[in-house]
Amino acid sequence: MAASHHHRGHFFLLALSLAASLAAAADSSSTHNITTVLDGRSEYTLYNSYLSETKVCDEINSEHTVTVLVLTNGAMSSLVANLSLADIKNALRLLTLLDYFDEKKLHSLDSGSELTTSLYQKTGQAAGNMGHVNITDLRGGKVGFAPAAPGAKFQSTYTKRVDEEPSTLSVLEVSDPITFPGLFGSPSASSVNLTDLLEKAGCKQFARLIVSSGVVKMYQAAMDKALTLLAPNDDAFKAKDLPDLSKLSSADLVTLLQYHALPQYTPKSSLKVAKGDIPTLASTGAGKYDLSVVSSGDDVSLDTGKDKSRVASTVLDDTPTVILTVDKVLLPPGLFGGAPSPAPAPGPAADVPASAPAPETSAPAPSPKAAGKKKKKAKSPSHSPPAPPSDSPDMAPADAPEGDAADKVESKKNGAAAAAASFAATGACVALAVASFL
Ligand SMILES: *[C@@H]1O[C@H](CO)[C@@H](O)[C@H](O)[C@H]1NC(C)=O
Ligand SMILES: *[C@@H]1O[C@H](CO)[C@@H](O)[C@H](O)[C@H]1NC(C)=O
Ligand SMILES: *[C@@H]1O[C@H](CO)[C@@H](O)[C@H](O)[C@H]1NC(C)=O
Ligand SMILES: *[C@@H]1O[C@H](CO)[C@@H](O)[C@H](O)[C@H]1NC(C)=O
Repeated sequence: MAASHHHRGHFFLLALSLAASLAAAADSSSTHNITTVLDGRSEYTLYNSYLSETKVCDEINSEHTVTVLVLTNGAMSSLVANLSLADIKNALRLLTLLDYFDEKKLHSLDSGSELTTSLYQKTGQAAGNMGHVNITDLRGGKVGFAPAAPGAKFQSTYTKRVDEEPSTLSVLEVSDPITFPGLFGSPSASSVNLTDLLEKAGCKQFARLIVSSGVVKMYQAAMDKALTLLAPNDDAFKAKDLPDLSKLSSADLVTLLQYHALPQYTPKSSLKVAKGDIPTLASTGAGKYDLSVVSSGDDVSLDTGKDKSRVASTVLDDTPTVILTVDKVLLPPGLFGGAPSPAPAPGPAADVPASAPAPETSAPAPSPKAAGKKKKKAKSPSHSPPAPPSDSPDMAPADAPEGDAADKVESKKNGAAAAAASFAATGACVALAVASFL
């Protein structure tokens, strides 16, 4: 689609004006930014803050043609009252239609009704066509939105036009959310057994390593704050050019595994728009052990400076935790050679037990921009992202830890208070997230 060239223009501008973009942001001439469109409209602040918190704003901004059905603060606060962020995220996705509808079009649908695709359908989580939305011109000039189930009620109705960018972005206010039984109850990060989940997702080898090294504890602690796990699938460990990991000292193995995690919530749609160096849990602050992102269309790859690894599938996406599989082990030049620049020795500051002086060698260090010369030897397996195994909601509760973690979920779910807090925090979060991508 035309989406990709569109985005390129946008990224270019973003690169030019990164600092300014925090405040000014919008490059409205080339593509839309839903956050900016809703900024300053006090009746939708809650909706807008949840768009940012769940990162559905990035998904919306990735769509070339989109209609966003927004809820007022009143409707939004009753929606979020008893829902997890994962559920709120799906509700917001179902309110995002992948076609352009302005008021005129709503009133001139062929035979008064149309079934249209929403962002929720795109997640692959929707049962059948439940990610579609039925728009119907109801009697008396009202237009209603209903889930795709036969005989579903049109609880959500069009109330007013909010904004539009002709033929690409339409923002309409509706009275109520579009919901159906089964939309809610997605597995939540704090209730899953990480090793178990990774094994089921075809990352047995990685699961084994994080358990044997103890890094799993570090990941689990990070899951409460913000974590993006980049788990190499089992095929990645079969690559012929993979260095012998059993030769790594245990400190280096820990660093390698920390390198496979980002201390922030970055679902694939957000990675796609990430710019510059991204810190990992192994980052020293001097740019060492950072990653960068290369994306093209829906393909997102992580560039270590030595090699690239493609994001294959999403195993779990539950703010603030996301687990993605990647098709190659991420090899930091700092451990395997090919370092673009010798960062000042991290010394004892590195949070790795100093048992072994990190061998900076093991491969001849090529020229600084090694990124360009990718050695193509490893096959890239499992290209099609399969439906995440996390689809089965029945796997979650069985593993739910009692007590502490459960309490946190409880408090997270606590509607109004959490909503208000998160609303206040969101501005800062967005700024932080952007800043950390610079
Ligand atoms: C959209 O705008 C917000 C602030 O209005 C900004 O923080 C964010 O980075 C922008 N997103 C993109 C993709 O430019
Ligand atoms: C949320 O849950 C509480 C307690 O479980 C209940 O009293 C309240 O009515 C629920 N609110 C909504 C909007 O469903
Ligand atoms: C939308 O829903 C109404 C009521 O259930 C139904 O009569 C109509 O056929 C549906 N429209 C489409 C396009 O599926
Ligand atoms: C998590 O799952 C793994 C593998 O299924 C199991 O060995 C481990 O005991 C589980 N951990 C917890 C805390 O339940």
